[in-house]
Amino acid sequence: MSAEPGDLPCDEASVAPPRRIRSFVRREGRLTEGQRDALQRLAPQFSLDRLSGSLDLPDLFGRVAPVCFEIGFGSGTALLARAQAQAERNHLGIEVHRPGVGRVLIEIERLGLRNVRVMTRDAVEVLREQIAPVALAELVIEFPDPWHKTRHHKRRLIQPDFVRLACSRLAPGGFLRLATDWAHYAEQMREVCNAEPQLQNVAADGGFVPRPDARPVTRFEARGERLGHAVFDLAYRRTQTAAVDAPGPGVIHE
Ligand SMILES: C[S@@+](CC[C@H](N)C(=O)[O-])C[C@H]1O[C@@H](n2cnc3c(N)ncnc32)[C@H](O)[C@@H]1O
Repeated sequence: MSAEPGDLPCDEASVAPPRRIRSFVRREGRLTEGQRDALQRLAPQFSLDRLSGSLDLPDLFGRVAPVCFEIGFGSGTALLARAQAQAERNHLGIEVHRPGVGRVLIEIERLGLRNVRVMTRDAVEVLREQIAPVALAELVIEFPDPWHKTRHHKRRLIQPDFVRLACSRLAPGGFLRLATDWAHYAEQMREVCNAEPQLQNVAADGGFVPRPDARPVTRFEARGERLGHAVFDLAYRRTQTAAVDAPGPGVIHE
């Protein structure tokens, strides 16, 4: 007699992988007509969402160049500014919020940018499954959701497992740049990254760095300023010279 799925004993049925705590809540905000059109028309050229497995970044950008990866670009102000200011680099941005991705696609077309690609996916999964070790020259995470209530701190992106995974995707000498306007999260970021053996804090005192001039004021930075928050910037260089993959998938279980 063959067993039905419902026949599984409790202990076997309960081995399904637990749901990973995510750093975002997917809210399908309203898309404008222009964003909807851009997502349909331009995604085949500039979005990598259709792809699975490890990404061949030089092939997907059509050239070999250092890759800067921005996680959670929101409306894309900084991503687009960086792509224009650093034309010699390839810029990959990831954001789960589709209106922001639509806006970036509109601007890619308007500005005639050829060095930007976007994804509408969970960055943790993409880093783990699609970005090869040592593939990135820079990883930028500006104003990640602060999840300021204590019971939500587990949702914060910057945690030891995530930082280990992110670090493994950086080339030796590559940079991790972080910014936040939440003092408590800033301290958590500093502690977690300072404790990662393969990262070296660029600030000689192991603290924060001055605000980079190159960063335009992003929407969430402006919001923080309106609230009277100080802004904290951190910069780290990956030190290790051997290409070592992260042992764990950056998974936090509920
Ligand atoms: C507070 S906003 C900051 C946006 C932008 N960096 C800025 O400074 O204006 C954080 C963004 O990160 C995105 N996000 C959070 N976790 C993410 C993940 N795991 N993968 C992709 N995007 C994520 C959210 O959708 C949100 O738009």
